[in-house]
Amino acid sequence: MSGERCWWRHGVVYQIYPRSYQDANGDGVGDLEGIRRRLDHLAWLGIDAVWLSPFQPSPMADFGYDVADYCGVDPLFGTLADYDRLLADAHARGIRVTIDWVPNHSSDRHPWFLESRASRTSPKRDWYVWRDGRDGGPPNDWISIFGGPAWEHDPATGQWYLHSFLREQPDLNWRNPELERAMHDVLRFWLDRGTDGFRIDVIHRIAKDPELRDNPPNPAGGQGYGGQLHVHDENHPDVHALLRRIRAVLDAYPDRMAVGEVYLFDPAEVAKYLGRGDELHLAFNFSFLRCPWDAAVFRREVERFEALCPPDGWPTWVLSNHDVPRHASRYDHPTLGDARARVAAMMLLTLRGTPYLYAGEEIGMRNVAVPPDRLQDPLARTLHPALSRDGERTPMRWDASEPGCGFTTAAEPWLPLGPQPPGTDVATQRADRGSLLWLYRDLIALRREHPALHRGAFRALDAPEGVFAYERTHEGGRAVVALNFGDAPVEVKLGAGRVAGGLSTRHGRALPDTADAIALAACEGMVLLLA
Ligand code: GLC
Repeated sequence: MSGERCWWRHGVVYQIYPRSYQDANGDGVGDLEGIRRRLDHLAWLGIDAVWLSPFQPSPMADFGYDVADYCGVDPLFGTLADYDRLLADAHARGIRVTIDWVPNHSSDRHPWFLESRASRTSPKRDWYVWRDGRDGGPPNDWISIFGGPAWEHDPATGQWYLHSFLREQPDLNWRNPELERAMHDVLRFWLDRGTDGFRIDVIHRIAKDPELRDNPPNPAGGQGYGGQLHVHDENHPDVHALLRRIRAVLDAYPDRMAVGEVYLFDPAEVAKYLGRGDELHLAFNFSFLRCPWDAAVFRREVERFEALCPPDGWPTWVLSNHDVPRHASRYDHPTLGDARARVAAMMLLTLRGTPYLYAGEEIGMRNVAVPPDRLQDPLARTLHPALSRDGERTPMRWDASEPGCGFTTAAEPWLPLGPQPPGTDVATQRADRGSLLWLYRDLIALRREHPALHRGAFRALDAPEGVFAYERTHEGGRAVVALNFGDAPVEVKLGAGRVAGGLSTRHGRALPDTADAIALAACEGMVLLLA
């Protein structure tokens, strides 16, 4: 795969939250047909693949991450025929389609769970994690990521079932071979249809301590939610054998891939999920989601993952997704407008690794302050309204029309579309050659055209404080990138030679003739291709 252009390494992937992309049937919620109608936007932008968050039948306790049928489409989003049409039309444009696969838990309405909970002797009892209580309480001290104990008592059978997330999301038992086979069959169901790959939800959770031992308390300052060190309820070493078998299912099909949500903040642990090229193809590295706007911090995170990545491994980079506040909001600045979002985009699209974009970031969408009476995310209820993820899940803004912004014709979309700064919509930005949207497009095109940018080696370069600079090299091709995170102009001495092309984050800026000493304006980035 290293010689030719490999889509999942060298391409750009774009995450779509189906509820919020395009509503084709006027019910205020996005759907698969809506996504199909917007494929031209994705083709114009130049992205190589999409990742669709769950659209399978679901009671929507966690908006689709509680799956009640792994091999179907929820009527809210359409039908399997709609999925097939979307896939075919995406492929016709050269766009791959990857979908979410949620193996750690199903919905409590999934027929498997209904059967499992029916009696202690049910043939599917062991497909989930059932235990007797301890001293009248839950079997151990594990807590749910979404608040409260990770165990729910079932009065009918007198036992407790494990749920790492909501009580409506019982954990599947991957130590049961029949369950494992059934979940592999789910993968085959979608692979047989031509699906190009999977984003695997919380993959580091599918193996837990078989003895279900208590987690130890978290020492002051240690990482981990709920005052515990999560040594027994996630990231059990057995996960790697499970992953190798999942990988074998994918490898029976040409050119498919799996990216895992390995929600661990130790990059050394994340890198292990790549195995020896026999586990995940890609593992999300979420370190950027916690980086303050500081060039030195970004440099440190990039160099750290580069050092840990196995020789055949390949990094991923992500700034926003459906679970964290959008980076345009995290890095907002009172007077710089979208300058930081531009620098962030240049970084994301010029590092070594697969960039994952989140729908709406290309137009600089900010988090929306959703009024309390319109909050939807269960976390607002189970944890705290301030922890609701609704603000980053609001619908895509296609044009400036009121009230639906081209997203819906319904009077009220499922989440409000704004407020957003003026000009935060696709139509307005397409009409403006200097917009953030065009910068994304130009960066993606530049990256595609130059092997140094999509596959070259990475090396950080010395630069003044506040600047993150690096070079990318591939077979004689060389590019340098200099990103000024600061809000004052700066000169960066790179001694890098004659410039043959490139881009500035500021539209219309002339590029320097040489990259020996680059004058960057406040919060400006440049990528320069060297002669
Ligand atoms: C992942 C998803 C998140 C979901 C959780 C439970 O973290 O990204 O949205 O709530 O898994 O499935």
